Amino acid sequence: MRIARRIRDLPPYVFAGVARRIREKEVRGERVINLGIGSPDMPPPDFVVRAMVEAARDPSAHRYPGYVGTPELRRAVAAYYRRRFGVELDPEREVLPLIGSKEGLAHVAWALVDQGDVVLVPDPGYPTYRLGTLLAGGEVFFMPLKPESGFLPDLEAVPEEVYRRAVAMWVNYPNNPTGAVAPLDFYRRLVELARHYDFVVLSDNPYADVTFDGYRAPSFLQVEGAREVGVEFNSLSKTYNMAGWRVGMAVGNAEVVKALTRVKSNVDTGIFLPLQAGAVAALEGPQEWIEERNGVYRERRDVLVAGLRALGFTCDVPRATLYVWARVPAGWTADALADTLLDRAGVWMTPGTFFGPSGEGFVRVAFTVDVETIREALARVERVLKEATP
Ligand SMILES: Cc1ncc(COP(=O)(O)O)c(C=O)c1O
Repeated sequence: MRIARRIRDLPPYVFAGVARRIREKEVRGERVINLGIGSPDMPPPDFVVRAMVEAARDPSAHRYPGYVGTPELRRAVAAYYRRRFGVELDPEREVLPLIGSKEGLAHVAWALVDQGDVVLVPDPGYPTYRLGTLLAGGEVFFMPLKPESGFLPDLEAVPEEVYRRAVAMWVNYPNNPTGAVAPLDFYRRLVELARHYDFVVLSDNPYADVTFDGYRAPSFLQVEGAREVGVEFNSLSKTYNMAGWRVGMAVGNAEVVKALTRVKSNVDTGIFLPLQAGAVAALEGPQEWIEERNGVYRERRDVLVAGLRALGFTCDVPRATLYVWARVPAGWTADALADTLLDRAGVWMTPGTFFGPSGEGFVRVAFTVDVETIREALARVERVLKEATP
């Protein structure tokens, strides 16, 4: 049997390999504390679950759901963008529900990228930007995100000839893995460059509603001219604690939305109707609980930041996302530290290198476990760091 070169040459999805290692430890009876993955541990509110269950009782709810989401879901997404960001969207032409935003991030490359085209990708960044580009036969140009620039890419440092070959640029704020946020001026400059060089801006914004200390994250689409040059991906996974439901959306430029719909309608057949009903309930129901939920995350964040700093890590206090991006203690590489902590402390933190070469020297630590568990993880890490040498 011969596996296609496209797949043979593709690096495996790094999180999948780690999940196997963690499972093996658990089978041996070890309790691993997983601070590696940004999967919200709290459930969505009961009214959301009830809406889904009620919809599932309807005998007609089990047929094929259609390719573009229900009109109710597309309207609910448009209403969310109006209420949350002041952005008006046409639910028919500018909104496309996704089976979780990750599939959209991958499939949009098939809509935009031809063999040899360049896609600008942040480094460190969510791995699917890169893998989607490679699957479509494109070339990745990494834009380093550096602490001294607030983890924003230096848009002026991209060589002219790269801009000329670029068909798309990924941006992601609030940022995974660094926790950084972007001002609207950054998006304004991006729109100018996208117009000038004729590339599509792909803004990935799933953490817009996981914010702290009064910070309100904007949408790329708030900027004038944005919808002429780009789309935004969003998700119910983090905003509404619905990661397992797999409901996301692409919104913005109608031409890109149409091209992505063309790809997807040939690949999948939409989202189970009761899940769409639950998603509508989440988007249209009371939103106050989100603030309360963010308060829980904030408390965990503070315990984690203080604990990591006391152990010799260096990190900023993130104003958004579920992650602390911490420089590892002197002498360690990201991979060596993450491996040692998994093997000897049963604590998993994601090495920054999983997100690209500029992630060297950092780990991403998620606060998707309760405060008690964070404290226990910190105590285990302290014990191992005292004994282990880099
Ligand atoms: C930056 C970023 N984009 C996209 C996703 C995918 O989210 P989902 O597929 O659950 O909508 C994640 C998930 O962790 C993420 O961190």
